[in-house]
Amino acid sequence: MKRFLLVSLSLLNLNVFAQVNHAAMSSMTSADSRKPLKLTSMMAEHQKQNMRDHLEAVRDLTEAFIDKNYKKIEEAGKRLGTSPEMQMMCNHMGKNTPGFTEMGLKMHKEADKIILAARKKDMKAVLVATNKTLQSCTNCHSSFKQEIVSEDVWNKL
Ligand code: HEC
Repeated sequence: MKRFLLVSLSLLNLNVFAQVNHAAMSSMTSADSRKPLKLTSMMAEHQKQNMRDHLEAVRDLTEAFIDKNYKKIEEAGKRLGTSPEMQMMCNHMGKNTPGFTEMGLKMHKEADKIILAARKKDMKAVLVATNKTLQSCTNCHSSFKQEIVSEDVWNKL
């Protein structure tokens, strides 16, 4: 029994050691030099859901381009455009990461131009605004990556 306990304990130790070591190694050896967007794990999940929704809106946009469906372009544009919910989301997610909220709000502003261009039934302007919007997406993606912090750490930031 004693021997069993000793073996289990040392295995446990090894396991903990391996995990700590793995975490240290991956932060030391990561080739990803983007700035951390600090979030709790719940916020991180929420942020990614929001991102996937953005991509769905982009899919709907391109679908609407095929038959120049301006009503549908306007609707998809609204999913990406400025709204009180999006502003709240960007403010909340970027609370502890300087520069993040501004980049998010800029993307929504570019998307507002898709809506305006759709109302004018101006396809060229729709495409220009969509391109600028996507540029804002990719600018942020090359600047930030998620970093999960505990609730405790988050509250102290
Ligand atoms: C203000 C910054 C910002 C903007 C603007 C932004 N993103 Fe993101 N996006 C992120 C971050 C940060 C991640 C997480 C990256 C990581 O940790 O690897 C992400 C992840 C994603 C993911 C992956 C989601 C998953 O489930 O893993 C998709 C898809 C995505 N973004 C789409 C978009 C699209 C489309 C747009 C523009 C319409 C956009 N994003 C605009 C910051 C941004």
